Amino acid sequence: MLEIVDLWVEIGGKTLLKGVNLTIQEGEVHILFGPNGSGKTTLLMTIMGSPHCRILKGEIKFYGKVINNLPIWERARLGIGIAFQSPPAVKGVKLRELVEILSKGNGFSEELYSFLKLEEHANREVNRGFSGGERKRAELLQLFAQDPKFIMFDEPESGVDLESIALVGDAINRLLERGSCVRRQPKSYTKSALIVSHTGYLLDYVKVDKAHVLIDGKLVCDKNPWDILTTIREQGYKGCEICKETC
Ligand SMILES: Nc1ncnc2c1ncn2[C@@H]1O[C@H](COP(=O)(O)OP(=O)(O)OP(=O)(O)O)[C@@H](O)[C@H]1O
Ligand SMILES: [Mg+2]
Repeated sequence: MLEIVDLWVEIGGKTLLKGVNLTIQEGEVHILFGPNGSGKTTLLMTIMGSPHCRILKGEIKFYGKVINNLPIWERARLGIGIAFQSPPAVKGVKLRELVEILSKGNGFSEELYSFLKLEEHANREVNRGFSGGERKRAELLQLFAQDPKFIMFDEPESGVDLESIALVGDAINRLLERGSCVRRQPKSYTKSALIVSHTGYLLDYVKVDKAHVLIDGKLVCDKNPWDILTTIREQGYKGCEICKETC
């Protein structure tokens, strides 16, 4: 579904991604760990097509088609979606209005407002005055409305209280299972995802196939999520750099 080959990216004259290779197949969920400032958000924003992220070298392919030069809206139409790390407030646009535009023909259910505890927010301007956790849930609601095939979640659990993390996990599962007729066992998803996380809490709720670690703009590891998380907890990200040699 998504293939990234030798991707080099700069923002404001600074090279932030230095030769990233990544392949995500249909139905696969990958998690991305990495210290602050290592380039995780830059990678996601480059895949989404932010004009601030200048591709110096390499290719991003979606279903075999090179999308390097496509604007954000065309990538969104192809089925790429994102939940931002810090979603902006949108003055003058109500959450319900945005959801209605995004969800045309997508079978969006009104029940999702209550599922995500956003009934009272529907008639407020998008994210204006929303708490950190409310913004994260509003992002998920917009993804339900947009229904992308490949979804990037940039720290969906950051700023979310421990109890609500279960709700975020459930919502991500529902998003990734959408369109399947039966709840399949063992769990397999119809959509693909790339999830950025620092905590790994979501591993308790979402079935993740692979994990990666991004350090200084390079993917240094590609392994089982629990093994990577244990290494990071016990040795910090230094452990991932050492582990690279044994990978
Ligand atoms: N416009 C810019 N000009 C200069 N540097 C920038 C610009 N935008 C981002 N950066 C820098 O690029 C680096 C990577 O940022 P990025 O947001 O991708 O990190 P991250 O891995 O997502 O970190 P975090 O875990 O804190 O979210 C940071 O050091 C950031 O300050
Ligand atoms: Mg980030």
